[in-house]
Amino acid sequence: MSEVDKQEILLSSLFRIVREIHTNSDPAKLPEMVLQSVVESLHAERGYLFLKGEDGKMEVSAALQLNPDEVGGLGKTTQTAIKRAVEKGEVVITEDARQDPRFAGASSIIMHDIRSVASVPLRLGDEIIGALYLDSRLGENSFSEQSGDALLLFGSLAAQAIDQAQTVAALIDENARLRIKAGRFAFEEIIGQSKAMEQVFALMERVSQTDLPVLIQGESGTGKELIARAIHRVGPRGEKPFLALFAGNLGEELLESELFGHVKGSFTGAHQDKPGLLSLASGGTLMLDEVADIPLRIQAKLLRVLQDGQYKPVGGLKNLSTDVRIVSATHSDLPIRVKENLFREDLYYRINGIEIRVPPLRERRDDILLIAEKILRRFSEQSNRGHIRFSRESLTMLTRAKWPGNVRELERTVERAVVLCPGLTITADHLIFTRSAAGDEGPEDLSLKAAEKNHILRILAESAGNRSEASRTLGISRRYLQNLIKEWKDEGIEV
Ligand SMILES: Nc1ncnc2c1ncn2[C@@H]1O[C@H](COP(=O)(O)OP(=O)(O)OP(=O)(O)O)[C@@H](O)[C@H]1O
Ligand SMILES: [Mg+2]
Repeated sequence: MSEVDKQEILLSSLFRIVREIHTNSDPAKLPEMVLQSVVESLHAERGYLFLKGEDGKMEVSAALQLNPDEVGGLGKTTQTAIKRAVEKGEVVITEDARQDPRFAGASSIIMHDIRSVASVPLRLGDEIIGALYLDSRLGENSFSEQSGDALLLFGSLAAQAIDQAQTVAALIDENARLRIKAGRFAFEEIIGQSKAMEQVFALMERVSQTDLPVLIQGESGTGKELIARAIHRVGPRGEKPFLALFAGNLGEELLESELFGHVKGSFTGAHQDKPGLLSLASGGTLMLDEVADIPLRIQAKLLRVLQDGQYKPVGGLKNLSTDVRIVSATHSDLPIRVKENLFREDLYYRINGIEIRVPPLRERRDDILLIAEKILRRFSEQSNRGHIRFSRESLTMLTRAKWPGNVRELERTVERAVVLCPGLTITADHLIFTRSAAGDEGPEDLSLKAAEKNHILRILAESAGNRSEASRTLGISRRYLQNLIKEWKDEGIEV
């Protein structure tokens, strides 16, 4: 067979594989299928397909005629070829490894009588997400030193197919979950698959069909307002108004007049009657945001509203009545405020018909990537830049961060990354965390030990969790690093 014929056969079989992998519907089997078809059509004999795991390490994702647990058995030289594919993105092909000086003395080649070896990077944009390794003893294979470009192209097409399949799999998964409970469709804009969020959804479903007052407790940025709106929208009051009062930074007088309204002349500047939110939201829902900040005098007036729907506007003599559903939100611990006599106990019980606790993002790490991907999709659509994606390393960093500002902070971090990222792949360089998000919370620890820890954590993050690489960079033994990591783990720090 001439070299030209060989190349032609190679290209056409590679394209056939690409077509097949795009129509194959089972993403879990895709790596195996890619490997099998490439080994067959190139008349190779054995092979591995490696994919980068979440920790940034290459893992065997499929193996053919080779033991998935014995990559080490391939010998040093072969490992070097794979490493060159993975780290430098180079294709390494040798037609007769026994003659190739690069493999001189490699016992694996001699032992197994391997004649031809190819290692091919699986490249996606700027990132190498994996590699293919093929070898053959038969001497009939159709990869030669001239096949480099074709194999490189094939590597990127296969990488694209694998990446797409993974995204599709995640979406199918998510959709199936959403469909399980028809009611959940209504909460679609609230992203989350974690157990903790499943519980929140279940509670939301139950309370949305009632008029029970709901108290939503959660840290800043956890989605309290999103939840309050969703409860309102899917319930029987959904078509009526939803209004929110932010009690956090209004003075007492202003707050009172906002809430209950006032009559003309009740204070300087009150030129005419003005209805309050209680009246405007009648028939619908009123959200008392940061309810813990409402002053005690106003709490007393609110208690009455919750008891029988009656209240007096500022300066008014007559009682008005309203039919409003109250949803309150707070990031404080209300029972403590009650104990400190800053919040009325009777009001606490009234507004707390049912309590929904929204867990902080760091307690539902499963949701981080899902939310990040959705936000990224939204921003890349808005910015009209095509399909921007996260590098695997950046995904690892996102899942590891502490997110003291919860989903709002995640949202901003992704938005900033989109702006900072010139191309279509968001890398670690584009992720800027607040100090408290990436490191420890609380007052800054200035000890040498803390500085050492921060430095080591940074290098670990930069080497995407690869401990050998990190220990090399740090100039310490891997064992010492492992011990430190174990020590931190005992302190409750995840590495
Ligand atoms: N589960 C979620 N899925 C998608 N977006 C979310 C989710 N939770 C929060 N967000 C988004 O994060 C931002 C903050 O949410 P929201 O304003 O509801 O938080 P909050 O708990 O009311 O915060 P704060 O206490 O600071 O008022 C919003 O842009 C919201 O859309
Ligand atoms: Mg809010």
